[in-house]
Amino acid sequence: MTSETIINLEAASAGESAAHVKYLYFAKIARAQGFEDVAKHFEDTAKQELLHAFGHLELLLGDITTKQCLEKAIDGETYEFTTMYPSFKEKAEFEGNVAAASEAQHQIEESKRHAREFAAVLKKAEKRFAALAKVEKRHAEAYQQIWETLK
Ligand SMILES: [Fe+2]
Ligand SMILES: [Fe+2]
Repeated sequence: MTSETIINLEAASAGESAAHVKYLYFAKIARAQGFEDVAKHFEDTAKQELLHAFGHLELLLGDITTKQCLEKAIDGETYEFTTMYPSFKEKAEFEGNVAAASEAQHQIEESKRHAREFAAVLKKAEKRFAALAKVEKRHAEAYQQIWETLK
């Protein structure tokens, strides 16, 4: 179910994440221009924006397993290299923005690499995830038995 609040939380988490990165970038610029105090202020605020993004993600994702995190990461990176960046690249080429087109191509390769790496990590951890699922199932069954005796 996609409620408006879920959509808002997604937008809020994206916005706070973007602010986090943007302020770190601004800090870099301020520092390079000799404004150490301004750079520090940007970095302090960036840290708070990161916590805001975490808060939104916590509400959005709830109880999420490591396996699900890896699956979500693979989905996200796959979307980037199969859909998002190819369409950005096409648009940039159409508009004659050579730098943006080549950046998009670079991002296609990076996202593909990230997806591949996450998939390898998932595969490597699969046995541990399966063992964990078995333990959890056993716990659930034990609780179910206790529950039955309490009824
Ligand atoms: Fe914020
Ligand atoms: Fe990536």
